[in-house]
Amino acid sequence: MQKILFATSEVYPLIKTGGLADVAASLPRALLKLGQDVKILLPAYTSVMENTKSVGVKEIAKLEVDGYSVSLKQTRLPGTKVSVWLVDVPELFAREGNPYCGPDGNDWYDNHKRFYLFARVAELIALDKAGQNWQPTIVHCNDWQTGLIPALLSLHPNHPATVFTIHNLAYRGLFSYQAFAELNLPTAFWHHERLEFYGQLSFIKGGLAFADFITTVSPSYAREIQLPEFGNGLDGLIAYRNDSLAGILNGIDTDEWNPGTDPHLTCNYNRRTLANKTKNKLALQEELGLAIDASIPLLGFVGRLVDQKGVDLILEQMNQFLNLNCQLVVLGSGFPHYEQALKNIASQHPKKVAVTLGYNESFAHRIEASSDMFLMPSIFEPCGLNQLYSLRYGTLPIVHAVGGLRDTVFESPDDAGEVKSNGFVFSVAAAQELFSTIRRACDLFQQKDQWKQRQANAMSKDFSWDVSAKEYVAIYEQITAQ
Ligand code: ADP
Ligand code: GLC
Repeated sequence: MQKILFATSEVYPLIKTGGLADVAASLPRALLKLGQDVKILLPAYTSVMENTKSVGVKEIAKLEVDGYSVSLKQTRLPGTKVSVWLVDVPELFAREGNPYCGPDGNDWYDNHKRFYLFARVAELIALDKAGQNWQPTIVHCNDWQTGLIPALLSLHPNHPATVFTIHNLAYRGLFSYQAFAELNLPTAFWHHERLEFYGQLSFIKGGLAFADFITTVSPSYAREIQLPEFGNGLDGLIAYRNDSLAGILNGIDTDEWNPGTDPHLTCNYNRRTLANKTKNKLALQEELGLAIDASIPLLGFVGRLVDQKGVDLILEQMNQFLNLNCQLVVLGSGFPHYEQALKNIASQHPKKVAVTLGYNESFAHRIEASSDMFLMPSIFEPCGLNQLYSLRYGTLPIVHAVGGLRDTVFESPDDAGEVKSNGFVFSVAAAQELFSTIRRACDLFQQKDQWKQRQANAMSKDFSWDVSAKEYVAIYEQITAQ
C-alpha cells in the first residue's frame, strides 16, 4: 500500500473550473477503493471553506512558512471517505470566485507567491515536518500550480517519490524573472534545464524536469506533446523524459454521471429505456424556447469558451449550419469575443440556437442528457471528459481526432470488432471538416436503427476508473521500488 499525497489546485465539489477538478475527486476515490492511503492537498479558497461546512473542518497544525502563518486543516470530500488537507492562508487564498483570477478576469497578481507557498507546505508534509506523523511514499502533483513541489523536494536526499500529471500543457505557469527573485528558490533553479523558460520562470517545468515520473491524461496526448505542434515549447524536454512518461486515460465518476440516477434530469433513462431520453430533449427545447420537435437533431456544447475548444471552427461554419434542420444548445464562459459572437447568433435564431453564458453544473448534466450529439471540435484535448459523459448518456460525440478524443471516439469500426463506432470524427481542424461531420451525423440521425446501434455502442463502454487507477498504482510501485 502507498501513502499518497495528491496535490491539486481544484477538486469537485469544493472548487471547479474544469476537468482537473473532476479527476482530482474521482481518481483519489478509485485509489482508496484499491486499498491505497490517499490524502488530497488543496488551498483553502473561500468556496472550499463554505462547501466543507457540512462535513466539518478541524485544524491539525499551525506552521510558519516563509513569513506566512499557515493553518493546516483536515476535512473530507463530501459524500466520500477521502481525506482532504487544506492549506489555509487567508491573505493568499481566502478569495471568492475563480481560484486563479480576479473578478476582472485577470490572473491574481500574486499567483507565483500563492502556488509557491502551497508547494512549500506540500514539501513540509512530504518530509513529515508538518507534525502529522504521516509521511507519504508518493507525492502526486497536477498541472503547473503544483510544479514547484518536485523541484523543492529534489533538494532533499530522502524525499518521497514524485509523479507529475499534465492535464493541460498549454498552461505553463509563466512568470517574470522578478517573480522568481521574489521567491525563496535556489539561484541554481534559474537554468534552462530547470525552471527557466526563454527568460521566464515556468512552474510546470518544475514538474517536467524534476518529477520521478510524468503522466498525462491520454496515450495520444502523451505522443503529441513530444512534437512541436502540441509541445508549447516544452516538447524537447518531454521527449527527453520519454522513458519516464506514460499516457493514462482519465476515467469518470460513474455515480455522478449516470443517466439512470442523475437527479438533474427531467427523466432518467438507460440503454433499454432510450425513449425516456427524448423526454429530456423536449423539456429542454421548451425551456430554451427552441422549436419543440423530437425529430430535429439537437447538438450540445458545454465548455470553456477558449481557443482550445475549437469555438472558431463552430463559428466559421455557422452560416452553413443554420441551413441544416438541426438545433444547437451552448453552455459556457470564457473569452468575451466568443461569448458575444455566440449570443448574437442565438438572438438572431432563437428557435434554432440557445446560448447560456456562465457556469452551471446542473444545466451541464441536462444538456448531456437532452442532446442527440455533443460537439467537441477541440484544436487539442489532453483527455476531455465531456465526450466521456456524452458516450455514457447515449449522446454521440462529434470530435476532432486529437488527444483523448482520438482515443475514445470512433466513427469507423475495425475489422476485429474491438473498435465499435460510437460517434463522428474528423481529422483536420477546419470548419469545413466540422460542418461535413455534423451533416453526416444529421443524416445518420434519420436512420433510426443505425443510430440506436451507435448509441448502444457508446453506452456499453466502461469508462470507470477501475483500469486506469491500477495503472497509476503500477507506476507508484515502479518508482518506489527504484
Ligand atoms: P477542460 O478541463 O479542458 O475544461 P474537460 O472536458 O476535461 O475540459 O472537463 C470540463 C468539465 O467542466 C466538465 O465536467 C464540464 O461539464 C465542466 N464544464 C465546463 N464548462 C462548464 C460550464 N459552463 N458549466 C458547467 N460545467 C462546465
Ligand atoms: C484539462 C484538459 C482536459 C482534461 C482535464 C482533466 O483541463 O484540458 O482535456 O480532460 O484536464 O484531465
